[in-house]
Amino acid sequence: MKILVVGGGGREHAVIKKIKENKEVEKIYALPGNGGIAADAECVDIGATDIEKIVDFAVENDIDYAIVTPDDPLVIGCVNALEEKGIKCFGPRKEAAIIEGSKAFSKKLMKKYHIPTAEFETFDCMDDALSYLETCPIPTVIKADGLALGKGVIIAQTRQQASDAVVSMMQDKAFGKSGETVVIEEFLEGPEVSVLAFTDGKTVKPMVSSMDHKRALDGDKGLNTGGMGTVAPNPYYSEAIEERCMKEIFLPTINAMNAEGRTFKGCLYFGLMITENGPKVIEYNCRFGDPETQVVLPLLESDLLSIMIATTNETLSETEVKFKNSCACCVIMASEGYPVKYEKGFEIKIPEDIREKVFVAGAKLEKEKLLTNGGRVLGVTEIRSTLREAISASYEAVSKISFENAYYRKDIGQRALLAEV
Ligand code: AMP
Ligand code: GLY
Repeated sequence: MKILVVGGGGREHAVIKKIKENKEVEKIYALPGNGGIAADAECVDIGATDIEKIVDFAVENDIDYAIVTPDDPLVIGCVNALEEKGIKCFGPRKEAAIIEGSKAFSKKLMKKYHIPTAEFETFDCMDDALSYLETCPIPTVIKADGLALGKGVIIAQTRQQASDAVVSMMQDKAFGKSGETVVIEEFLEGPEVSVLAFTDGKTVKPMVSSMDHKRALDGDKGLNTGGMGTVAPNPYYSEAIEERCMKEIFLPTINAMNAEGRTFKGCLYFGLMITENGPKVIEYNCRFGDPETQVVLPLLESDLLSIMIATTNETLSETEVKFKNSCACCVIMASEGYPVKYEKGFEIKIPEDIREKVFVAGAKLEKEKLLTNGGRVLGVTEIRSTLREAISASYEAVSKISFENAYYRKDIGQRALLAEV
């Protein structure tokens, strides 16, 4: 089979390494891929949102199956465009990807179908939003409606911060069109859990749970990033919570999307908070999480490509989705200064014996040298029988990788270890 993967981050590298395990795969193209992915797939210089070129490429190269993993191509209809040309895809059509593309949509969906989430109001008029903020409970959470690279969420501790956030989104257009509508919601507390789930629109098969570390600095301080590290499974996600999530959140969401005529197929990401009153949805993503994928897929024992094809063919109920009974930790190595300002172009040295465990995100190849080319440069995942061992093994591997201005958090997994005792 000839496979095309749209995207070029650590998540796509993890997907590509996993589908290579399937013997039927003869060729993998990554659009655009990156300097590290080039070791595992043929990278083609076509951007992940250049839908017309992606479709032309897929048709010209007789692609058998396309895997679309980043949010923006999914939200703007990459799967729709490929399917129109008869190319089978992994990933939701844009009618379903709106579950991530519009927070106003997903919040209204949850309200309509009684799926537990934070209380909220949506506003498309700034003055209404500002007057609501005069009396609402504080802290409060302000969210831009559309995609904002994970930066469109402000937790306001004071009324002033809340109204500043609304003005910056709605008047100053800090997130462009994404902030024309805002959601203002109740501040929830509790441990966060990420659960990625395969679904074909009928059956939902959750993957092993995980925990992201979104803040830039140790102790969960500093700015929000795309994610500085992950562990799986997430010890806060007990069997009892898992059962409740299936009954109160996962199945109701799949059913709600069907009832709206927006059947979701692919990987649905549930960002959950385990509150005193049970699990609640913080956000949905219409795709694999990054860097959750880098811990979840290495733990997958079953064949990834067969599962993906089963979501397309609606045969997921008959397909095995099995995970190893082990623990994984992924530490992200970033460029110093990320997520604000950082330098690029430094040579990355990775010893041969740990290459298989490295998922490359922001790097390019130049004269056969791998150079840093982004904020998050790479992630290193190790698997062991306990979380504690997986964490030390990951940091051990990180210590063998070098590039100038490398920065990484030193406490990935520590919060998870606290839950274990
Ligand atoms: P999101 O982009 O929606 O995942 O939000 C980013 C982060 O903001 C989440 O991972 C949470 O840590 C935090 N957050 C979002 N919504 C809430 C909420 N209602 N209450 C408390 N924290 C929240
Ligand atoms: N790691 C969070 C996300 O992929 O959105």
